[in-house]
Amino acid sequence: MRKKIAVVGGGQIGQIVAMIASQKELGDVVVVDIPGYVNVVKGKALDLMEMAPHGNYDASIVGASEYQEIAGADVVIITAGKPREAGMTREDLLAVNLKIITEVAAGVKQHAPKAFCIVLTNPLDAMVYAFYKLTGFPKHQVVGMAGTLDTARWRAFIGMELGVSVADVAGTVLGGHGPDMVPLPRLTTVGGVPLAEIATKEQIDRLVTRTREAGTEIVKLFGKGSAFFSPAWSAISMAESYLRDKRRVLACAALCEGEYGVRGLFLGVPCLISGKGIEKVFEIQLTADEKAMLDKTCASVRKTVEETKL
Ligand code: NAI
Ligand code: 2OP
Repeated sequence: MRKKIAVVGGGQIGQIVAMIASQKELGDVVVVDIPGYVNVVKGKALDLMEMAPHGNYDASIVGASEYQEIAGADVVIITAGKPREAGMTREDLLAVNLKIITEVAAGVKQHAPKAFCIVLTNPLDAMVYAFYKLTGFPKHQVVGMAGTLDTARWRAFIGMELGVSVADVAGTVLGGHGPDMVPLPRLTTVGGVPLAEIATKEQIDRLVTRTREAGTEIVKLFGKGSAFFSPAWSAISMAESYLRDKRRVLACAALCEGEYGVRGLFLGVPCLISGKGIEKVFEIQLTADEKAMLDKTCASVRKTVEETKL
């Protein structure tokens, strides 16, 4: 029997998630959206079914507005929510998206209580915390997608700057999904060569800044709405690791309970994702400077989380 993937929110990111999940034959896909948008998601689902003969994939893809359609889902990917517009911060979305996450959490809790849940909605670190609190699901079952995207951007920018294949760039980005996230140049390598040995300090500083501002760079170009291709693929990498027990180590917003000196917050940290969900959080020995940057991003995340009043 095929696995089942529920995508809540069939907008820009949700539609690409549905497309890649089908192309990779991760399972059957159901896309849930609000009643006012349900015909659009039904149309997108149908379009994807009609693309299957070219893509040579077998998957059922349907659109719906009722949560009972997600019953039995193995994975729920939550992209429901407003995206940013130029001039907005992710935090500006808190009130409107908290209402949406509250509704989504109730639907998922009732109809897919065993699913591995990947939250994308912004402000990410607060929305994944809210989803966790509202569902009461165990911590290994709830994760936020941001670090996987931020790390992909870090790797992409290094590849572009140095003219090397992104396949050979390894590294990670810690912390919250905001301008004080913490890329780790010290632990980044290109084909095993430490980044600091092939890039100048000026280049590294520029890469750090660009990574921190990457979401905003795209929002400015779009004017309305935010990135969707790389966010969608990032969620797929996480879902695939769970569904196929790939045991990938990816930067994810996971509940920290003492790791990095942080308690009770979802924060971007390297996680082992297996068929059990978030099986392990890896704790990196940080330098004093890195720790100071992590403390700063934690303070920002805590402030936003407190605004949820959960
Ligand atoms: P979008 O506006 O294209 O799609 C959002 C969809 O959610 C719409 O189809 C809308 O009808 C639906 N929706 C709204 N309320 C709903 C509800 N109660 N139940 C079900 N569906 C509902 O937005 P896009 O670009 O897909 O972004 C989605 C979210 O992801 C935004 O909050 C955005 O800021 C966030 N995002 C997060 C990233 C991350 O790294 N965590 C990266 C990029 C975006
Ligand atoms: C991004 O980083 C806006 O969070 C969104 O692209």
